[in-house]
Amino acid sequence: MGLIERKQFRKMRLAALCVACVGVLAVCAACAPQTAPSAEEKASADAGDAVSVEWSMESDCVMCHTDQQASMENTAQAASNHAAVTCVTCHNDESAMEKSHDGKTADSKMPKKLKRSKIDATACASCHSAEDLKAATADVTVLTDQNGTTVNPHDVPANSGHEGQVDCASCHTMHGEADVQAAAQEKCSSCHHKDVYECGTCHE
Ligand code: HEC
Ligand code: HEC
Ligand code: HEC
Ligand code: HEC
Ligand code: HEC
Ligand code: HEC
Repeated sequence: MGLIERKQFRKMRLAALCVACVGVLAVCAACAPQTAPSAEEKASADAGDAVSVEWSMESDCVMCHTDQQASMENTAQAASNHAAVTCVTCHNDESAMEKSHDGKTADSKMPKKLKRSKIDATACASCHSAEDLKAATADVTVLTDQNGTTVNPHDVPANSGHEGQVDCASCHTMHGEADVQAAAQEKCSSCHHKDVYECGTCHE
């Protein structure tokens, strides 16, 4: 047999095997003990249609995320400045979001923080330009290390240590109440363990 023929032969054999498998499964299903569905099972089957719909960026987010929706109207929370901004304008990390929602229903445990998805600064840039942000916090001195080096929270130097590690969500809580300044300090000290920004002062 030539290579191509051999491949075809293997395919045919696989197909035959599959047919046999399906046959066995069908028999098994047929002889499995049949129990009448409970009232609960019936109810969930009836309601099931709505839940089994695939999640997408066009889904009705509020159906499940009632806490985040409430925060959009609570003036104590940063989200309230964004009542006119759709959820997916900020939550635009589609592939991570898709994974997070795989198999989830309105009865699943709702998240308290972001686990998989990222908030990309480009989602904010249309309204908050880097220049404006930098200017707005030019006088903020909350990020000052032991040596007196002050860093503007919106002008953290770009370097290999910071890449992908410091973003808007590192410091800003949108749907809950949190102290931005404390969150900012905590973020920096998670790596700058001696309250000195220049690692090289002590390490090679
Ligand atoms: C059917 C209910 C349901 C709908 C509809 C739904 N979500 Fe979720 N969402 C969940 C559940 C449950 C989780 C928690 C997943 C987990 O624990 O990993 C979640 C997780 C998330 C997260 C956290 C992702 C992460 O980084 O871990 C975000 C953000 C989110 N949803 C936003 C949205 C947005 C935006 C929409 C509308 C486009 C939406 N959700 C629609 C149930 C839903
Ligand atoms: C469609 C425009 C728009 C987008 C997109 C947007 N914002 Fe805003 N944001 C505003 C407006 C308007 C205000 C209120 C005026 C101001 O402080 O600039 C605001 C205010 C804020 C504030 C100050 C809240 C306070 O309590 O003082 C923060 C923090 C903020 N936005 C963060 C973000 C982040 C982070 C993103 C991206 C994930 C984002 N915004 C995306 C329009 C937007
Ligand atoms: C390292 C922490 C940190 C990061 C990262 C950060 N911020 Fe801030 N942001 C702050 C601090 C601190 C303030 C000052 C607020 C205060 O002191 O109450 C602030 C203030 C703001 C304000 C209000 C500005 C004003 O007009 O007073 C907006 C809007 C804002 N941030 C948006 C953003 C956006 C969008 C991003 C991502 C591109 C971002 N921030 C990233 C710490 C941070
Ligand atoms: C202005 C940008 C913005 C908008 C609009 C926005 N979010 Fe968020 N969301 C964030 C940021 C930033 C975080 C991470 C910080 C935090 O925990 O608040 C977050 C976190 C979350 C989380 C993780 C759990 C949590 O509370 O931290 C969920 C779920 C979520 N958002 C869903 C939604 C839904 C649903 C909507 C629409 C009703 C929405 N978001 C609108 C920026 C936004
Ligand atoms: C994920 C770890 C991590 C976090 C979080 C982090 N840093 Fe860094 N930082 C580093 C590393 C690693 C270096 C050294 C990188 C290098 O030399 O290339 C560094 C270097 C610096 C430098 C040195 C000078 C420069 O020009 O590069 C400053 C200033 C600095 N960080 C400030 C901050 C501030 C402010 C924060 C909080 C908003 C912060 N860093 C958060 C890891 C981190
Ligand atoms: C002021 C001096 C100082 C600065 C600045 C400093 N370190 Fe350190 N680092 C130390 C000392 C002392 C130790 C050893 C014991 C300890 O953890 O207290 C250490 C330990 C470490 C360790 C653990 C090493 C091990 O073998 O367990 C790592 C990793 C580290 N530093 C990384 C960094 C990084 C990354 C930076 C910059 C973001 C940095 N350090 C800035 C003084 C410093």
